[in-house]
Amino acid sequence: MKSADQRNANRGRFITFEGLDGAGKSTHLAWFAARLRERSGSAVVVTREPGGTTLGEAVRGLVLRESMHLETETLLMFAARRQHLAEVISPALERGDSVVCDRFTDATFAYQGGGRGLASDKIATLQSWVHPGLEPDLTLLFDVAPEVARRRIEAARDPDRFERQDEEFFARVRAEYFRLAKTAPRRFVILNGADSVKNIQKSLEYIISTICL
Ligand code: TYD
Repeated sequence: MKSADQRNANRGRFITFEGLDGAGKSTHLAWFAARLRERSGSAVVVTREPGGTTLGEAVRGLVLRESMHLETETLLMFAARRQHLAEVISPALERGDSVVCDRFTDATFAYQGGGRGLASDKIATLQSWVHPGLEPDLTLLFDVAPEVARRRIEAARDPDRFERQDEEFFARVRAEYFRLAKTAPRRFVILNGADSVKNIQKSLEYIISTICL
């Protein structure tokens, strides 16, 4: 049996992607995960929040479409997260796989906290209940101005409840992401989501070489 320390040393890397809707993170996430798999030669689990499990995807359908009390919305995000950790994230990290997750708890601070105005100490309480001692090793924050995000969302598709919010909402979400990045500067890397795909891929390649291998 491995000691707790050995287990910790073999634990995989937990990498999260964050940013406003329309920041382009989902496109870059797929490229990043494929490249990380290629370069590291080891398993990379790609997943998302809300979602990632059968239950989590059902919760996603609810929170993106149904209007509800802000605290209900927040509790549902964490309920889905608890299941996601139990079924997907923790087992993968324990096996030594890398986990690349499209959004995690920073999104709750940014959207339910910054965007909608829920007190951040309530979110911090849920965080310490649902994943005490676990936070991402690396968070890539794709930053775009709210008006750029808005134009991209409008061009794309049928918007969900969050995507229908106004620019002021997105400005508050963005400000909260910046606050989080300031409190954890070693965990966050901020990328300019308005940059060309080619330039962003160059930065991601550099991040893989210097931080992820
Ligand atoms: P998103 O990754 O943008 O999905 P897609 O690219 O398919 O539209 O995430 C869906 C939405 O969920 C997004 O608007 C942000 C919101 N969200 C929260 O409000 N709180 C959270 O804790 C999480 C994880 C997501």
